[in-house]
Amino acid sequence: MRTQVGIIGAGPAGLLLSRLLALRGIDSVVLENRSREYVEARIRAGILEQNTVDVLTEAGMGERLHREGLEHRGVYLQYPGVRHQLDFPELCGRRVWVYGQTEVVKDLVAAQLAGGPPLLFDVSDVAIEDVDSDSPRIRFTDADGTAQVLECDVVAGTDGFHGPSRAVVAEGTGQQLWERTYPYAWLGILADAAPATDELIYAWHPDGFALYSMRSPSVSRLYLQVDPSERIEDWSDDRIWEGLATRFALDGWEISTGAITEKSILPMRSFVSAPMRRGRLFLAGDAAHIVPPTGAKGLNLAVADVVLLSRALVRLLQDKESDLADAYSDTALARVWRATHFSWWMTSMLHTTGDPFDAQLQLSQLRRVCSSEAAARELAENYTGLPF
Ligand code: FAD
Ligand code: DHB
Repeated sequence: MRTQVGIIGAGPAGLLLSRLLALRGIDSVVLENRSREYVEARIRAGILEQNTVDVLTEAGMGERLHREGLEHRGVYLQYPGVRHQLDFPELCGRRVWVYGQTEVVKDLVAAQLAGGPPLLFDVSDVAIEDVDSDSPRIRFTDADGTAQVLECDVVAGTDGFHGPSRAVVAEGTGQQLWERTYPYAWLGILADAAPATDELIYAWHPDGFALYSMRSPSVSRLYLQVDPSERIEDWSDDRIWEGLATRFALDGWEISTGAITEKSILPMRSFVSAPMRRGRLFLAGDAAHIVPPTGAKGLNLAVADVVLLSRALVRLLQDKESDLADAYSDTALARVWRATHFSWWMTSMLHTTGDPFDAQLQLSQLRRVCSSEAAARELAENYTGLPF
């Protein structure tokens, strides 16, 4: 088998890269080690920056997104006694959309399978070879158990945090890693309940942070800060709803409840690996970096990476010019560090640590964002996404 770009991983990064390349006449093959059902059901991010919506729309992926996605002009910041709306269009002229990562992935998979480049699910034993040459290859076993070799011009490692690509980059480069593990986790639920809010609520509370999000007019997505050692079995539905009601409490307002259809505990970390390239192997998305979810940046960063990478690969493979490919890692990492700082800042402002001094600093920062246009604009510009 031969292709121009061998893509490992059918998350949003790999699928979108394949689509953007196809639109520019470059062929690719996407290899995914999970099943289609698994990939399409994995509940993850829910907020799309304006940039991400624009990229998906230009890639012909905007039809259902514009029909079913919810356009939001802001978020609420809450601390005891106060719920304050930040109006993004007023602050920075941009907005965000609620449209689940599951839906983005379903749209991309459907387009790929309807005449797009090959997308192979359920592969195993993926191994990347010869990335320092101009003809790298990927060995893998296909869904039928047959050993295959995919000869490529370039390999894209879009295989997420646990995929094999990052280690291959590390072996051949003076790889640098930066990591922070936070002493908090998020307990996330999906519930068949009409959201009791028109926009997301980021709430600081002495018991811990809570986030009110949604997936549709009838489905709520909610998160509670918990200790990373907590076990999901110890959180009954009643205990979760009580925790949420306490943390979002506001006079004259009530949370709406319903059947919980999914619940899980997510660890929180920041992680950056550089460079994002070794020879003909390029990393994009969670394969190279992880942010804590508080700024809603993970999926949006993955999209920003593949926009840059697709431009670099078009230039490399069609124009035979390596300038954008050579600049890719540094250009992507500048945005990655901005999002890493913003996500760390949001996380630090909103999660209680148990230290009363930290709590006073956090409340002071929240009051500042809710009273100073300059401070609010800084949050708004980062949250809605800096222009590419
Ligand atoms: P992924 O989506 O991880 O895709 C990588 C793909 O590669 C996967 O399909 C994987 O199965 C495949 N793969 C891995 N190894 C191999 C292999 N050996 N061979 C072939 N394929 C392989 N971000 C937010 O902004 N907000 C959120 O609320 C949020 N919640 C999250 C919850 C969870 C549990 C997780 C893990 C992440 C969450 N994120 C969130 C982050 C966001 O979902 C990611 O940033 C986003 O998925 C990155 O996309 P990606 O394509 O780079 O990686
Ligand atoms: C969602 C997740 C986030 O991390 C966030 O900051 C906002 C919304 C969500 O899953 O809806």
